[in-house]
Order: sequence, then structure tokens, then C-alpha cells
Amino acid sequence: MHRNHRISGRARLVIAFIATAAVLGPLAWLWQASLVPGTYSMTDTGYADHGGGRAGMAMAHDTAAMPADHVMAARPVTALTADPDRPADVAATLTARKQRFHLPSGREVDGYTLNGESPGPTIRAIAGQLVSVRLVNESVPDGVTLHWHGVDVPNAEDGVAGVTQDAVAPGHEFTYRFVVAQAGTFWYHSHQVSHRQVLGGLLGALVVTPAEQPAGVTDVIALVHLYAGRRTVNGREGDLPVDVPPGHGARVRVINTDNGPMSAWVGGAPFRLVAVDGTDLTGPSPVRDRTVLVTAGGRADLEVTMPADGSPVRVNLGGSVAVVLGSRSHDAPAAPRPRTTLDLLSYGAPAPLSFDPAKPDRRFRYDIGRRPGFLDGRPGMWWSVNGHLYPDLPAFVVAEDDVVRVRITNHSGEVHPMHLHGHHAVVLSRNGVPATGSPWWTDSLNVGDGESYDVAFVADNPGIWMDHCHNLRHPAEGLVVHLMYEGVSTPFVVGGISGNDPE
Ligand code: C2O
Ligand code: CU
Repeated sequence: MHRNHRISGRARLVIAFIATAAVLGPLAWLWQASLVPGTYSMTDTGYADHGGGRAGMAMAHDTAAMPADHVMAARPVTALTADPDRPADVAATLTARKQRFHLPSGREVDGYTLNGESPGPTIRAIAGQLVSVRLVNESVPDGVTLHWHGVDVPNAEDGVAGVTQDAVAPGHEFTYRFVVAQAGTFWYHSHQVSHRQVLGGLLGALVVTPAEQPAGVTDVIALVHLYAGRRTVNGREGDLPVDVPPGHGARVRVINTDNGPMSAWVGGAPFRLVAVDGTDLTGPSPVRDRTVLVTAGGRADLEVTMPADGSPVRVNLGGSVAVVLGSRSHDAPAAPRPRTTLDLLSYGAPAPLSFDPAKPDRRFRYDIGRRPGFLDGRPGMWWSVNGHLYPDLPAFVVAEDDVVRVRITNHSGEVHPMHLHGHHAVVLSRNGVPATGSPWWTDSLNVGDGESYDVAFVADNPGIWMDHCHNLRHPAEGLVVHLMYEGVSTPFVVGGISGNDPE
């Protein structure tokens, strides 16, 4: 009896030990495998996804297997610049500081400024001009960069710390040079510790106008940002009044710099949505009683014609702030938020594309989920891409001139504003329903939970490009992949002595 009991006791101990090891062993392995090294190259993490295209010659992921001359042949991102001999048409210096500052309302913000203000100075250029911006870091301890959101700049000018440059340390500077080929509404922001620096105000508007400006249209910037939890337009709380004479036009360039989608709607006149993400729509017709969903990071240009009787027009931005167009002698009418959202899948008139998305060279899927696991050793529910957790994520590999299709699917329980650097993609369908309106070119696409989008683009801008969620908390939680051109390499690393931390 006693002896049997002791044996079974020992057996139980052994079984318990084996069971514990069986559970903890894989867990320890998963934990260990999730640890992100202090310093690493973006091109060495994750795995290459060739999208059904041929595997490349000098892909950085495969360099170990490559003959040395192929590795040598890789172009560094630093070589992908604008023409170095071309002089700048527009030049600016932006000096970054970490500081407390005051909004016009008097509210104090503990954040960041450019030239002493936030939003930073608006940069204006004419399509085709070469813009040169000298970024000086006076006092941002973590370092800074500037990313030109929505502008398809050469890769070396993309401003991603640890991928296209080192973060600019206090006392240092970096000059960005790029041609703004396309007229449209863009913005710039830091891409170093971006979830903190963008929230804290290290951002501004970039507006590119066509060589021939339409007469009789007032150009209005409406950059929306949450400072210390308060929504503002151009840094102001409440209404932003703008004088526009009766019968005149106004183009309101709405820029959503926040982490979530925003509704914009117009009271007092019909409006046309004339551009999305810096690209004009074709055949936009006047609409009433519709809200426009402005994706986080995205832009929407709304055009109105002022009523002849002098009554004002109110462009509501999320409800708490508005641009009030008209003369100050009139009170702007309150306009309730319309229930229906303008559907960009069918708005405007169709027009031919410059390429055939039906014959792609590569097809990728960008499938966003959420699952339990470890992120850099931290247990939790984390964003997954194609079932994988950061840093074990795909790199979408393309060759120059490839036609690329991506199916973005979201079943993660939250909305994700997906932003691809360096390219604009055209929306082909949503939830299997084909697009029938104006070509809908986007760089920031609001992908709701349960939604799926097919988009396509031409790989015409070689480099290593982020493709991430613009709810900037999410890339910091691992929701970021890269589009990588074959034969392009980067000398920059995440971490390292520059402390590069793009998210
Ligand atoms: Cu506006 Cu990678 O961001
Ligand atoms: Cu997200």
C-alpha cells in the first residue's frame, strides 16, 4: 500500500513534470522567438513573399545564398534621390523642438514644434517644382525625421528612421529634396517614434497647386489634429472663419492627421468631393446630405460654390470643429450630420487607367487579424499579418514596373487605415463589389473590420517602402510590413547608435 502510493506519487511527479515541460517548452520557445534584437536590419527580419512572381536576383533576404557580385550590385536606398544637380524651386528650413506650447485657445500642449509652432509651417509648391526642406533638430532627444505623406518621393527622401535614413539627433540636420510631380493635398510628419511625435504635433501641411490655378476659387487648408485630446483645425478649437465672397468657389483641403477616421460634411450648400489623397477625381457631381469619410492620414478636398445671397457654408469636421466660409456678418447654420456616407466606389465618372490591373505580375494578400502570442517577449493579443506576428512578417517583393495587386482583408475587430509609402494604389473592389465611379487612387485606405479591398498599383518607384496602419498605435504594436524592390538594400538599421525607431 505504502510502497504503491510512493510509486504512484513519483509517477505523478514525472507526469506533471513532462506535462509542464510540454506546455512551457513551446511557450518558452515562442517567447524566445518573439524577442526583437536591439539592432536589426529591416531586410533581415520576416520572410520574403514574392507574390507569385519570379524570385529575384539580389534580394536582400536571400543574400546569403547569392554570389558576392550580386550582393554588391544591390542599390542602396541612399542612391535613390532627386537629380542632385537640379536647383530647388522651393526651399524651407524647419527647426524641430520638444517643448510646451499654447494653442490659440490658450490650451497648453506638451509636445513638439517646427519653427516654434504646431502645426508646422505650410509648405506650398507648384506641380513639377523641386522642394528642398532642411530639417534641423534643435531639441528633440529621441531624434526626428520628416516623412512626406502621400508624396511619391525618391526612396532616400522618405524619412523613415532605420530604413531610409538615421534619425536626426539633437544638434544635427538633414535636407530632403524631391520633385512634387502631382498637384494635391499632402502632409508631412516625423517618422521617428511616430506614435508619440505625430500625436505631439511634429507635422504640417504640404499643398501642391497646379501651374494654372482656377480663378475665383479660394484655397483653404483644414488640417485636423487632436492636441491634448482636443480636436483642432489648423491648431484652433471651434470654428475657423474664412472670408469667401458670395458666388465664389472654395476648395477646402481636409487633412486628417489623427489615428481614427473622421466624418466631414457640409451645411448650407451642396459640395463636390474633388480629390482624395492628393489625386483629383474625375466627374465629381454635386451632392448634399452625405458625409465624407476621411481616413486617418488621408485627405479629402471638398469644393463648394458660395450661395449668391451671402449666406455662409459650414464644413463640419468630425462635429466639434468646422471651417465656416462666408462673411462674418452671418451666423453659420448648424448642420446635422447626414446619415449616409458618400460611397467612393461609385462616386464620379469612370476613366481609363494607365495600366491593366487584370494582368498583375504579383499578387499579395495583406490579411489583418489578431491573435494571442508574444510581441518582443510581451504576452498579449497582437495584430497579425497573414497569420504571423511581428517581426516574422512578410516583405512584399516586387521588381520595377511590375503590376501589383493586393487584397487587404481585415478580421481583427478594429478599423485599420492602411498607408503604403511611395505609391498610390487604385481601388478595384470592396467586399467583391467592383469600383464603378471615378478611379479612386489612395495612399491611406480605411479598411473596416470585416471588409476586404482589392487594390492595384504599378511598382514604379524603387526602394524599401513601409506599408502600415496609420493608427500609429498599431504599427508600434507590430502592424507594419514593407514593400521591397529587388536589388535595393539599406545601410540603416532599426535601433543602433542612432536609436532609430520608426514606429
Ligand atoms: Cu504618414 Cu509611414 O506614414
Ligand atoms: Cu491599425
